[in-house]
Amino acid sequence: MAYVIIGASGDLGRALAAELAAAGHRLVLVGHGKARLDEAADALEQAGHPRPSTVAADVTEGPGYLEDVRAAARRQGGIEGLLLPIGRSIRDDLATPAEEAAKLIAINLRAPMEAVDGLWKDLKSAPRPVIVGFGSITAIRGRGRNLAYGAAKRGLHSYFESLRVLGAIDGIACQFYVLGFLDTARMADQRTPLPKADLDALARRVVAGLDKGAVLRWYPWWWRPLAWAIRLVPGGLYARLAAPRSG
Ligand SMILES: NC(=O)c1ccc[n+]([C@@H]2O[C@H](COP(=O)([O-])OP(=O)(O)OC[C@H]3O[C@@H](n4cnc5c(N)ncnc54)[C@H](OP(=O)(O)O)[C@@H]3O)[C@@H](O)[C@H]2O)c1
Repeated sequence: MAYVIIGASGDLGRALAAELAAAGHRLVLVGHGKARLDEAADALEQAGHPRPSTVAADVTEGPGYLEDVRAAARRQGGIEGLLLPIGRSIRDDLATPAEEAAKLIAINLRAPMEAVDGLWKDLKSAPRPVIVGFGSITAIRGRGRNLAYGAAKRGLHSYFESLRVLGAIDGIACQFYVLGFLDTARMADQRTPLPKADLDALARRVVAGLDKGAVLRWYPWWWRPLAWAIRLVPGGLYARLAAPRSG
């Protein structure tokens, strides 16, 4: 059987793929750009693991690609689990044209929903099925930037709360990680108010937790109490603190 990773050519996706391959799991990697996806598959092969299947697709064009995913997984005995480290953000998306904002919603919310919906029945027949989603601390409380991204990630968090309920009925563990700033290529030139967290340590944690049932985790853990405190700040003060600064 194989784990399906949607967003497998990204920084977290590649770290998760490496960790799963090292644990002996077969993989189906899904990403947007074929070149980046092939690079991810090459890296696994060069590290001595079996070459994973790859499916290149633009998820904003709808869930048709899931047929290829299902076929690739079937050749490996079926789907063991589904990981969704897919995402895209534009820092100042208030100025983004509506069409681009709709794409952000499609990538960060609609595509994970379509993947879960499309693969749920396949997952149900796995021995210990698991679905893992990834949220963002951007969605703790709306602020003056990342509007569409934050809204999509808040929606995704709610969606996974519902999945947890349905998963308990169908025997599928639905896990959700709310992520703080990560030490990734995309974040390399961004100064962050708090330290960036180690990506490989996160991937190890996620893979080690796959058999832990339905979990909601914050990474790093201290974002959980911080999120609680951020929500307690009175609205007027919060609006002043969260307002984007020019420059
Ligand atoms: N990095 C952070 O600091 C941070 C913080 C909080 C939450 N997160 C969340 O953590 C997850 C992983 O983040 P990351 O830093 O690894 O992101 P990343 O490096 O940008 O990777 C994103 C992945 O999504 C894929 N993707 C984007 N648009 C797509 C489309 N239209 N069709 C198909 N695939 C598409 C990308 O494919 P291509 O490689 O081909 O573009 C890539 O595989 C995301 O959900 C992100 O929102 C990240």
